[in-house]
Amino acid sequence: MTGRVASRLDSSIILNRLVWKYSGHEETFTDPLVDCRECQSRFRADKLKEEYRQLKMAQFHDRVLVVGWGFLERGEMRCPNCGKANWTGVRPFNLMFRTHVGATAEDDPEARVYLRPETAQGIFINFLNILNTSRRKLPFGVAQIGKSFRNEVTPGNFIFRTREFEQMEMEYFVRPGEDEKAHQEWIDACRQWFLDIGISPDNLRLYEQPKEELAHYAKRTVDIQYRFFPEREDEERHWDELMGIANRTDFDLRTHSKKPEDAEGKRLNPDSTEDLSYFDEQTKQRFYPYVIEPAAGVNRTVLALLMDAYSEKTNDKGETRVILKLHHSMAPIKVAVLPLAKNKPEIVGMAKAIKRSLQPIMRAVYDDTGGIGKLYARQDEVGTPFCVTVDHQSLEDEAVTVRDRDTLEQERVKVADLSMHLLQRFSPGS
Ligand code: GAP
Repeated sequence: MTGRVASRLDSSIILNRLVWKYSGHEETFTDPLVDCRECQSRFRADKLKEEYRQLKMAQFHDRVLVVGWGFLERGEMRCPNCGKANWTGVRPFNLMFRTHVGATAEDDPEARVYLRPETAQGIFINFLNILNTSRRKLPFGVAQIGKSFRNEVTPGNFIFRTREFEQMEMEYFVRPGEDEKAHQEWIDACRQWFLDIGISPDNLRLYEQPKEELAHYAKRTVDIQYRFFPEREDEERHWDELMGIANRTDFDLRTHSKKPEDAEGKRLNPDSTEDLSYFDEQTKQRFYPYVIEPAAGVNRTVLALLMDAYSEKTNDKGETRVILKLHHSMAPIKVAVLPLAKNKPEIVGMAKAIKRSLQPIMRAVYDDTGGIGKLYARQDEVGTPFCVTVDHQSLEDEAVTVRDRDTLEQERVKVADLSMHLLQRFSPGS
C-alpha cells in the first residue's frame, strides 16, 4: 500500500486561526484542568480521575467506572501536593500555542495564529494544490513528517510527552465506501511496520477506541499501543499510544470547503473560498474523498526502539555493560572499523582505508581512542551491529575480523569480500 503514496509535503507550521476554527481544534483540542485551592497546584483532572479509579479498583478488587468529576467535588481525592481536598471546578485548557502575525496589536483576533498541533491540517488545506499539480487518481496518500506543538499540561516520561515533537502522518484519500477496507489494511500494515523495525510483538497491541473516546471527526480509530511503562503494577497501565490510525471520513475536506451546508442549509465554512472536492473521471461524479490517517510520533517510535533494544550483560567480575540490540536497519552506525594497535601506522592506514571504502555503501566509523575491549563496548552501547578489527595478521593475509554485536561471534573475512559480506548480513532474512 505504501507504494501508492503520491506526495510528500512540507507545509507551514504557523497556520491561520481559521484553519483551527473549522478543524474543530479551537473548540475541542483541550485537556481538563483543576486547581487545588489550598496550595494553588494545577493538575490534569483526567489523570486524577485515573488515579482515583485505580484506588477504587484496589479497594474493591474489581474494575471501576468513574463518570464525571463528582469525586473531586465531593473531596474524595486529595491533592497530591498538599494532601487537602479543596478543588476548583474543572475547566478545559486549549493545548494549542497561540501567537499573532505582523505588526498588529497582540489581542487583534484577525492576527491570531496557532503553531500546528498536528501536521494533518497542512495536508487538507493544500489538497487542491496537490490535485492540480500531481493529477493523482484515488486512492492516493499525502505524507508529511514535521514538528508539531502542544502546550501539554504534564510533559514528561523522558521523550514520551513533550511540548515540541516530531510527527509522521499520512492522509490516504479513498472513495467513500472503500474507507473501511483501506482503514483495516493500514492498521495491519502499520503494525507490521513496527514489527519490521524490530519491536517485539509482546510489547505491541491494538486498542480499538470506544465510541465515547472518538475524536469529533472519526468514524473509527485504532491505536497501536506500546508497553511504555512495564514497571507499573497494573498490567493495563503498561500501555500507551504509539500511533493512531483513524478513519476521518470526509470531515476535513468538507469543513475547509466553501460549499457544504449543515442540515439547516447554513454553510459549514462561510470563510472558505475553495472547494476541496474531487471529480472522479471513472464515475463522472464529484464528491469529497474519505480519509484514512495513520499518525505516529517519531519521538515515541525512537523511545520504543530504545526500550526494546536495551539489554545489559554482566561479566565474571560483576561489571555490567549495555548492549543496544537495535534492528540492523535502525542502527545509526552500521559498522565500526577498529585498529588493534593505534601506534602501528600500517594497521591504522589499512583500517582508515577500509572505513573509506565502506562509507559510500553504509554508515561506517573509525575509532582508535582506546583498547579493543573498550572500543567494542562503546560500539555495543550505541547499537553498532558489526565491528571490523584490523590486526597484525591483516597486513599479511589481507583479511580482517568481523565481530557480531549480538552473538559475539568473530569471523575472518578477506578485505576484498568485506563489503559484500556485510551487505549480505544486513539483508532481511540473513
Ligand atoms: N492527526 C492526528 C493526531 O495528531 P494524535 O494521536 O494526537 O493524532 C499522533 O497524535 C501521534 O503523535 C501519537 O500517537 C503520538 O505518537 C504522537 N504525540 C502526540 N502528542 C505527543 C507529545 N506531546 N509528545 C510526543 N509525541 C506525541
